[in-house]
Formats: sequence, C-alpha cells, structure tokens
Amino acid sequence: MKTTALMASAFALLAASGVATAAGDAAAGKNKNSMCIGCHGIPGYRTVFPHNYLVPKLGGQHAQYIVDALNAYKNGDRNHPSMRAIAGSLSEQDMLDLAAYYSEQK
Ligand code: HEC
Repeated sequence: MKTTALMASAFALLAASGVATAAGDAAAGKNKNSMCIGCHGIPGYRTVFPHNYLVPKLGGQHAQYIVDALNAYKNGDRNHPSMRAIAGSLSEQDMLDLAAYYSEQK
C-alpha cells in the first residue's frame, strides 16, 4: 500500500518538525502538476467537452481554497466530470502539495 506508506511518512515528518497543521510541499506539487497543466494555466483556454467551460486559473489561488475545491470534486459536492475523475486520483498529500505549488504562482 504505497499511499498508506506515503501518508505515514508524511505524518511522521510533520510530527518530527512539530508542525501542527498539514502542510503542502510546493516543490513536490510542481512534480505532480503534469496532469493539470494541460487544462489549467493556459490563459483563456476553454475545454471543448462537455461545454465551453472556461478553465479556472489556479496560479495565485489561496492554497486552502484549492484543497477544499479538490475535496469537493472528490466527494461529489462539485460535479465537473473531468475534475471529479482527477481529484479522485489524488491523495490528501497530493492536494496539499499541488495547492502549495499553485498558491505560490503569480
Ligand atoms: C481536462 C481538463 C482539466 C484537467 C486535466 C484538470 N482540470 Fe481542474 N478544472 C477543469 C475545469 C473545466 C474546471 C472548472 C470545473 C467547474 O466548473 O466546476 C476545473 C476546476 C478546478 C478547480 C476549482 C477552481 C475554482 O476556481 O473553483 C481546481 C482547484 C482544480 N481544477 C485543480 C486541478 C488540479 C490540481 C489538476 C491536476 C491534478 C487539475 N485541476 C486538472 C479542468 C481540468
């Protein structure tokens, strides 16, 4: 169970550094965003299917907002099909790392 091991080591790291709240690692997020840049980050880009959705810009967005949005797609509170599929494949740590990365962009 790779994910469980990763989570365990992430929590161990957090505990060791004495950080009370979960933190994202922007450098790790940069390595995880290859599946996001195809849609996000291109100014004015619109997805073709199912509608001409304007893809929201993530750079500079508040980290907590990004994590909340991804969790909302994952648990079905938000209903966009491609984002639901993508968020469903992300672990909590992936979300935190991606949020840290995007929140640092201008
Ligand atoms: C297939 C294109 C596509 C890909 C790939 C994609 N997204 Fe999205 N994303 C969208 C669209 C379209 C929306 C707007 C959906 C809606 O209206 O709810 C969106 C919405 C979001 C939102 C909510 C933004 C807001 O302002 O409310 C976040 C956060 C997000 N995506 C993060 C990601 C991350 C992180 C990845 C990579 C792991 C990713 N997305 C990959 C198309 C994509």
